[in-house]
Amino acid sequence: MIVCVCRAISDRDIQSAAAAGAERCADIFRCRDTEPQCGSCVGIIVDLLRESAQVRGTALACAR
Ligand code: FES
Repeated sequence: MIVCVCRAISDRDIQSAAAAGAERCADIFRCRDTEPQCGSCVGIIVDLLRESAQVRGTALACAR
């Protein structure tokens, strides 16, 4: 499922980045060598990062 329409970032992209160590929203965009455009996806990205952190049992450093 595409989460960020502006940058074509999917939920799988976010989960993969989180598994590789991404902890913040900025990390997701940095992994793609881009930055947010409209920002409407940030809340969903935070939720996905939080879910991934819970699965891994780590703290999440990303704030909305
Ligand atoms: S939907 Fe992600 S920046 Fe616009």
